[in-house]
Amino acid sequence: MSMETLLWKKVNDPAEIDGSIKEAAALLQEKQVVAFPTETVYGLGADATEEEAVQRIFEAKGRPSDNPLIVHVADRRQVEELVSEIPPMARQLMDQFWPGPLTLVLNSNGTAAENVTAGLSTIGVRMPDHPLALTLLRVAGKPLAAPSANRSGRPSPTTADHVYQDLDGRIAGILDGGPTGVGLESTVIDCTTEVPIILRPGGITKEDLEEVLPQVMIDPALANEKEKPKSPGMKYTHYAPESPLWLIDGKDEFFMRQLDQLKVDGKRVGVIASDELADQMDHQPLIRCGSRTQLRQVAERLYGALREFKKSDVDVILCESFPEKGVGAAIMNRLNKAAVKKIQTC
Ligand code: TXA
Ligand code: MG
Repeated sequence: MSMETLLWKKVNDPAEIDGSIKEAAALLQEKQVVAFPTETVYGLGADATEEEAVQRIFEAKGRPSDNPLIVHVADRRQVEELVSEIPPMARQLMDQFWPGPLTLVLNSNGTAAENVTAGLSTIGVRMPDHPLALTLLRVAGKPLAAPSANRSGRPSPTTADHVYQDLDGRIAGILDGGPTGVGLESTVIDCTTEVPIILRPGGITKEDLEEVLPQVMIDPALANEKEKPKSPGMKYTHYAPESPLWLIDGKDEFFMRQLDQLKVDGKRVGVIASDELADQMDHQPLIRCGSRTQLRQVAERLYGALREFKKSDVDVILCESFPEKGVGAAIMNRLNKAAVKKIQTC
């Protein structure tokens, strides 16, 4: 697979229907795939109603075909065309959080191409809160299946350059709308059960959802995963940086001891830390991802940080753990998946 990947810069006037939007939309109508920014991360879009177009997403990413895609819509009418019904609680969530980083899993009516849902009877839908994404959706006139625009296993892209690093030569084009805002993917919530279930924590927090819904559950698999990683040999293939990531859970002194020990052992260590921890060390290379008290900022910078360290530069990346409050739940969900090792104070 090799093709010329077009790059359109569209940072200044994202909502304007200009030549680049028209060209991108025309390519989508020709069943090609095009990357575009959303408020969470960049997505890799294709016409959700065309199997051949959707197949190209899986090929470009190297994504396993049993992992369903999220369908992006410009308005509610497009949702109605894809699902068998919209339960009242799903309507409430749309009223409150759309456009925004919340994906609703609803019962599909079979209109979407079969490979979008990976054979499931349900479908994930979301209206992104980004002027460029919404304009593209409107001009293309189609719902767009769009997973994060990274090669499978890599951290999701928060800039057009990240997309380019992963997918140059594999996709028809990239719309560059500048860096994304939220930095982590949308929250995925299953609305096909009586009590909705969070399947993936993300930009809309459990606390946000609880303000609208009488009851919300969390998929037990999310909590179990926290236990499992201690088992040896556990391999993670999500959000993986080039060098192995070790997640440190403990006080700052504990982090510093781990760092010193690795240095004594002759390892080249890259550090990802909050400002509070970074202020206590004189170590390079180090990436600051913001204050512990500003978890939104940490979320915004996290994937960029994970992409920053190259295999040739560091043997190990040490990253601190963050409080699991608010968007911290999503941050820690991603870090737990990205880490090959977790070290906790006993
Ligand atoms: O913020 C986001 O959600 C980004 C931007 C581009 O919109 N997209 C994104 O897509 O993160 P992706 O494919 O990387 O993640 C989709 C997640 C996967 O964990 C997938 O298993 C889940 O949503 N998902 C999609 N459809 C589903 C369904 N019908 N039932 C359960 N889970 C579903
Ligand atoms: Mg992804």
